[in-house]
Amino acid sequence: MQLTDAYGRAIKSLRISLTNRCSLKCIYCHREGETRDIKNEMSIETIVNIVRASKTFGVNRIKFSGGEPLMRDDFENIIRSLPGLKDISATTNGIYLASRAQSLADSGLSRINISLPSLSPEKYRKVTGGDVSRVLSGIDAAVECLAPVKLNMVLLKGINDTEILKMMDFIRRYEGKVILQLIELMDFQKTAKYKVNINEIEQFLESNASEIKEREMHRRKKYYIDGAEVELVRPIDNSHFCANCNRLRVTSDGRLKPCLLRNDNLVDVNNKEPEEIVELLKLAMDKREPFYKG
Ligand code: 5AD
Repeated sequence: MQLTDAYGRAIKSLRISLTNRCSLKCIYCHREGETRDIKNEMSIETIVNIVRASKTFGVNRIKFSGGEPLMRDDFENIIRSLPGLKDISATTNGIYLASRAQSLADSGLSRINISLPSLSPEKYRKVTGGDVSRVLSGIDAAVECLAPVKLNMVLLKGINDTEILKMMDFIRRYEGKVILQLIELMDFQKTAKYKVNINEIEQFLESNASEIKEREMHRRKKYYIDGAEVELVRPIDNSHFCANCNRLRVTSDGRLKPCLLRNDNLVDVNNKEPEEIVELLKLAMDKREPFYKG
């Protein structure tokens, strides 16, 4: 039996936040929709129980996020403790990745997304407060054991919107092992002035692509441009995005979160028994509705 909400949307994946802690301070960060500082991070046992309970409903894909998931020293242990799944991925800022990519891959991580708003050391520091050379080393390490690697580039007007071609050149060097994901900025941090015209970007990609594919997930479009694979993620005012949403979020303190953009419908499963989590998953599904209904 699948977990399906009142809008006919089945859950196929969990997006589990492992911690609120992060080594960077990105100016745009949505903090996975979290507004408070969380001290009590889920134990490995709770994480495993949530994954097991979801698996009884056919949920076979997990994405770990943060904060920065690599801030948890037990991340490899967490991955090793999970039941068998189709796909285990993570979204990281890449700062600690160079020394952990291999151990994460050995533990069973299947894929990784790395946030990279800019290749320029100055711009990267301005946007994130960090050192881009560490991320570049992280990408090199990940390409060896976790390919294809996805780079998440949140588009910021006046900062990185003139860098898209450069970023495409950068990924071409990895000959198919790196995919570029361009992401429309969601205004969580009073960043409206950085909003790009996403239609223009879409048109640019469309007119330059030799091939265009549409993914089922969020109906995202994939463009192939002179050997570079580029995806465009448009979450805002996008009823297709919501209609195709097949994930359920879990906060780092163990609450099921039906929507990134809402904080009034969470369901606490921290330290609960597996059978109870099965029931609470159904409750979270009853609270699930598209944010943009179209
Ligand atoms: N708008 C769009 N995407 C965001 N991310 C974080 N904050 C935002 C935002 N305000 C994405 C980045 C990062 C991932 C964890 O979430 O792509 O890689």
